[in-house]
Amino acid sequence: YQKYKPYKKIKKVNRKWPDNEITKAPIWCSVDLRDGNQALETPMNLEQKINFFNYLVKLGFKEIEVGFPAASDTEYTFTRTLIDNHMIPKDVTIQVLTQLRTHILDRTFASLEGVHKAIVHLYNSVSTIQRDVVFRKSKEEIKALAVDGARQAKKLAKKYGEERFIFEYSPESFPGAEVDYVVEVCNAVLDELKPASENKVIINLPNTVELCTANVFADLVEYICENLKYRENVIVSLHSHNDRGTGIAASELGLMAGADRIEGTLFGNGERTGNMDIVNFALNLLTQGVDPKLNFSDMDEMIKVYEESTKMSIHPRHPYAGKLVFTAFSGSHQDAINKGMAHMEKENLDYWDVPYLPIDPKDVGRNYDAIIRINSQSGKGGVSYILKTHYDLHLPKAMQQDFGPIITQISDQASKELTPKEIYEAFISEYVNI
Ligand code: KIV
Ligand code: ZN
Repeated sequence: YQKYKPYKKIKKVNRKWPDNEITKAPIWCSVDLRDGNQALETPMNLEQKINFFNYLVKLGFKEIEVGFPAASDTEYTFTRTLIDNHMIPKDVTIQVLTQLRTHILDRTFASLEGVHKAIVHLYNSVSTIQRDVVFRKSKEEIKALAVDGARQAKKLAKKYGEERFIFEYSPESFPGAEVDYVVEVCNAVLDELKPASENKVIINLPNTVELCTANVFADLVEYICENLKYRENVIVSLHSHNDRGTGIAASELGLMAGADRIEGTLFGNGERTGNMDIVNFALNLLTQGVDPKLNFSDMDEMIKVYEESTKMSIHPRHPYAGKLVFTAFSGSHQDAINKGMAHMEKENLDYWDVPYLPIDPKDVGRNYDAIIRINSQSGKGGVSYILKTHYDLHLPKAMQQDFGPIITQISDQASKELTPKEIYEAFISEYVNI
């Protein structure tokens, strides 16, 4: 992360209104290799998981959930491969998911033998529907399951070297449960895990099936943060899904409501509609002038790794990543961008201040070629920008006004986008080959 050129600064908007924004990057945890992987039609094989892990390290993730080792041989072998081959950098902590049953906990800890540091992620579902329909257990029984599991896990940690383990507990589907009950279960688990300043515990709040709107989620997060025991030694983490299409908003508001840590995946891969998209969230921070502390300076490489690993593709309008998101076809947008770019050049600005482009495309490794593209919606500003940037032709104002409509007409009649070469040829034929 330290090695790459920092992102460009963004000009802060002075709204003359109290700003309530996130001011620093959260602790990030990638769950691509677990939640993302478990949702794929064909889960990644060992080699793909290793490559993806190395790539997440390169992006700057310091906490990476690598899988559910007790769930399959590939998951177990992958965890062992990382540990046995010393593939985990000293400043990176792997995380593994486990249910609370004895044989599963045993296998989970066996998969971690010798690790320098790992987060053991315990979870059980607490929602009313899961309690009543799936488990057919009372509130007390579900709480006992969590507490007993935490106790067993603590015992196993002692056996394998207590200093090597951090615990995370997730009350799965918690927005579907009574909030005071959620607090009660989390506090009972914390009593077992005994958080201390040198032994922090992560309470992860999963919006498992995004049951509520982002503001309600944030209210729940705030209430839980205020009522957790040992709060100063607890890291509150959020794990949003995107079933209502507002996973990012929920995580953003939840962070402002008191959380410290965010779990998510690259481009939002994950169960059903996906997990919270870390790329989107992180680059939203950038637009607010906050360094996300993740290196997304080569978006095209990230898309390639993602597409090869997941066999899915990125939508052309995916925020910050899609191939059309830094492109303007319409005349008025092109004119404004053209003026913004000229203003940056003239004033030699070291911060980004261009209309219609929330960040400098170069910050994510894109060049300026795709910004202005010409079709029948385009105007004189766009056309003259293309001639200037591709052919060093600086059209005087009167000529811009004359030539713009000619290009509009050619594109309209042909019903297609025009390349810079076609625009240049039209220019030559109009003004030179007379
Ligand atoms: O979405 C979810 O609830 C999960 C838990 C296992 C944390 O993935
Ligand atoms: Zn999940």
